[in-house]
Amino acid sequence: MITIKTDAELNCMRESGRLTKNVLELLGKSIRVGMTTKELDKIAFDYIKSCGATPSFLGYGGYPASICASIDEMVVHGIPSDETIIKDGQLVSIDVGVIYNGWHGDAARTFMVGNVSEEKKRLVKVTEECFFKAIEHLSDGSPLGNIGYNVQTHAESNGYSVVRALVGHGIGREMHEDPSVPNYGKKGTGIRLKKGMTIAIEPMINMGSYQVDFLRDGWSVVTRDRLPSAHYENTVAITDNGVEILTL
Ligand code: MF3
Ligand code: CO
Repeated sequence: MITIKTDAELNCMRESGRLTKNVLELLGKSIRVGMTTKELDKIAFDYIKSCGATPSFLGYGGYPASICASIDEMVVHGIPSDETIIKDGQLVSIDVGVIYNGWHGDAARTFMVGNVSEEKKRLVKVTEECFFKAIEHLSDGSPLGNIGYNVQTHAESNGYSVVRALVGHGIGREMHEDPSVPNYGKKGTGIRLKKGMTIAIEPMINMGSYQVDFLRDGWSVVTRDRLPSAHYENTVAITDNGVEILTL
C-alpha cells in the first residue's frame, strides 16, 4: 500500500531526513585511512542516540549494526567490522537510516578516501548524477518508471550498469513501503507519483556488469566481476511543484 503523507507528516519526515543527512555529514568528516568500519558505525550510533532518535537498520531482519559500510566491489549491506580497515584509494559507501518520532529517513553516500583513481572518481560522480537525473523532471503525475529510465540511461550512456537485484522504495512510518523504485525501466510506465508520496531513490551503479553475488554472511552484496560499485540515496517527497529532497 502506498501511503500519502499530510503536510504535518511531511514536516516529521523533514526532521528525520535532516537527522539522516547530519549522520552522513558527520561520517564524511570523520572517515580516515586506517579507521575501521566498526568505528564509523559507533560514531553513527552515538550521534543518532544523542539526538533522541533510533538507528533503523539495527536489528532490522537481524542486521547487527546502525550503518552499512560497503567498500569498492561491495555494492551494499556491508556489515561494519573491527577487521575492516579503510585503505587509501577506496570507495566507502555508507548507508544509514534513522527513526525520529516514528518517521524514517534513509540515505547513502559513497565517500572517496585518500587518493582515489580517476576512474573511481568518475563512477562516484556519475552515480550522484543518476539520482539528480532521476528527479529532474519528476512531479505530481509523473510515471514512476521515469525514475528508472533516467537512471539507467545516464548510467549506461557513461559505460556503466545498473544493479537490478536491489531497488529503492517508499518510506514513511516504515523504512520499506510501497512502491518499489527500480533504477532501470521504461519511460511512461508504472504508477503515477502523487503529491505527498515519499520515496527513497537509490541508484547502485557498477563499473562493469550489473550482476551481483550475495555473500555467505547473509548480507553483503558484491559485484560478480568484483569491479567497483557506487551508491547514492536520498529520501524525497513529491510536492506540488516537483520534488523536495529531505536528506540533503
Ligand atoms: N538502507 C537500505 C535500503 O535502502 C536498507 C539497509 S538493510 C538493513 O533499503 F538491514 F541494513 F537495514
Ligand atoms: Co533505502
